[in-house]
Amino acid sequence: MRIAVLASGNGSNFEALCQGVENKTIAAEIVLLFSDHRDAYVLERAKKHHINSESFELKEFDNKLAYEKALLEVLQTNKVDLLVLAGYMRIVGEELLSAFPNKIINIHPALLPAFPGLHGIRDAFEAGVKETGVTVHFVDSGVDTGPIIAQEAVEITKADTLETLEEKIHAVEHVLYPAVIAKIVKGDQS
Ligand code: GRF
Repeated sequence: MRIAVLASGNGSNFEALCQGVENKTIAAEIVLLFSDHRDAYVLERAKKHHINSESFELKEFDNKLAYEKALLEVLQTNKVDLLVLAGYMRIVGEELLSAFPNKIINIHPALLPAFPGLHGIRDAFEAGVKETGVTVHFVDSGVDTGPIIAQEAVEITKADTLETLEEKIHAVEHVLYPAVIAKIVKGDQS
């Protein structure tokens, strides 16, 4: 299976996926890292792992459809089977959704359907809930609304600050995401 990872920023989840492939937990190849930010740190990580990368920005196109058509062409050229979003901060449009039905996965730093959107960790922390977590789900046209594949809870204690909670969430993500992608590749879930 040929995986493309889409990421906008730091790329710590991308890094965890690369390690999953390198240690053979994930029986697939990451054939492409795409970033919609030309200066994203994730592009450095791709270089380090010798993964082919591509980057262009929405603002370089007339509209989102043209941007997604260009992205789709890159994905098709690379014969991508599965799209894995790892901090890709955009809503996926119809062009990509219809080209990859049930083949686009996302990770979200909260227990969906609670706290969707851009600030899942902060929103849960500020709401004062005792528990939040991580969700891996299929992508549909909504914001963090697709069918849930896996979830793991993370306790919020009185001692937690936003920073410690972020660390706890990311630590869970970096184990859960490679494990779920490994299962999907094996055909356990798709
Ligand atoms: C993660 O918290 C992920 O759940 C969310 O965006 C963040 C990306 O972090 N979708 P990183 O770029 O993988 O470090």
